Amino acid sequence: MTTRPSPLLDVVVHDKRFRRRKVLQDVHLDIAPAEIVGLVGPSGCGKSTLLRIVAGLDTRYRGEVLLDGHPLRGLTRDIGFIFQEPRLFPWLTVSENVAFELGRGGDHAHHHPRVVQLLAEVGLAGYERALPKTLSGGQAQRVAIARGLFREPRVLLLDEPFSAVDPLTRVRLQELLIDVAIRHAVTVLLVTHDIDEALFLSDRVLVLGAVPGLSIEPITVALQRPRDRDSSTLLVARRRVLETLGRASARLDTPPHRTLLSATH
Ligand SMILES: Nc1ncnc2c1ncn2[C@@H]1O[C@H](COP(=O)(O)OP(=O)(O)O)[C@@H](O)[C@H]1O
Ligand SMILES: [Mg+2]
Repeated sequence: MTTRPSPLLDVVVHDKRFRRRKVLQDVHLDIAPAEIVGLVGPSGCGKSTLLRIVAGLDTRYRGEVLLDGHPLRGLTRDIGFIFQEPRLFPWLTVSENVAFELGRGGDHAHHHPRVVQLLAEVGLAGYERALPKTLSGGQAQRVAIARGLFREPRVLLLDEPFSAVDPLTRVRLQELLIDVAIRHAVTVLLVTHDIDEALFLSDRVLVLGAVPGLSIEPITVALQRPRDRDSSTLLVARRRVLETLGRASARLDTPPHRTLLSATH
């Protein structure tokens, strides 16, 4: 829980169940405008569920998602979602995928100034008319990032977005994400199981754990960008995330509850 004024995103989940099984309880997170927040936690602890709730993809929970103080229920163009796999339409060109929500393909999409600009930003200038099958995994995820930004969302949610690519591509995609997030001043909530990725990208790292109401000291990543991956600040923060995760995982075995262990500043 924080005392910062006017978060852009304010999420409270009192209770989320699948059938009778409780998956999330008493989770509270708020995110400031243009903040980048990483969410880590043991597998199965409810990270994707929480992200789907924030995205409006799951409305069957007790709680509330506020965007700029206004309650959200269901999908909104203010919140974009990027999944682990790019989920491009194989029969559409790169541009048509990026501009999909316009509902107009062909030259309209290929020449759309925003499409052209976004593709240049993600390093895919000249790929306007390419089909997804001709792209590498990393390029396809770049298209997904461009598509996620096309509608100019205020919040971008990412669920393990770089898990399926090779390590070098992953590093490049991380740098790209930071670049576009800062350029577009978009607020980011990113789920990852990679602690180093969370620390490299995030202003704060949150650990989703198992005991309702338990709060643990915050893990702030107060390091200027561009960041040095070998910085001692990251090493210290890494140790704290690992300790918190260790406690979260140990408790996952006991009660069937999940809560946010650590909210950091
Ligand atoms: N649609 C669903 N129906 C039933 N159980 C689900 C569903 N989605 C997720 N779960 C369960 O909820 C728990 C949390 O899942 P999830 O949010 O995907 O965890 P994480 O992303 O942290 O690995 C898991 O035990 C998972 O099996
Ligand atoms: Mg998940």
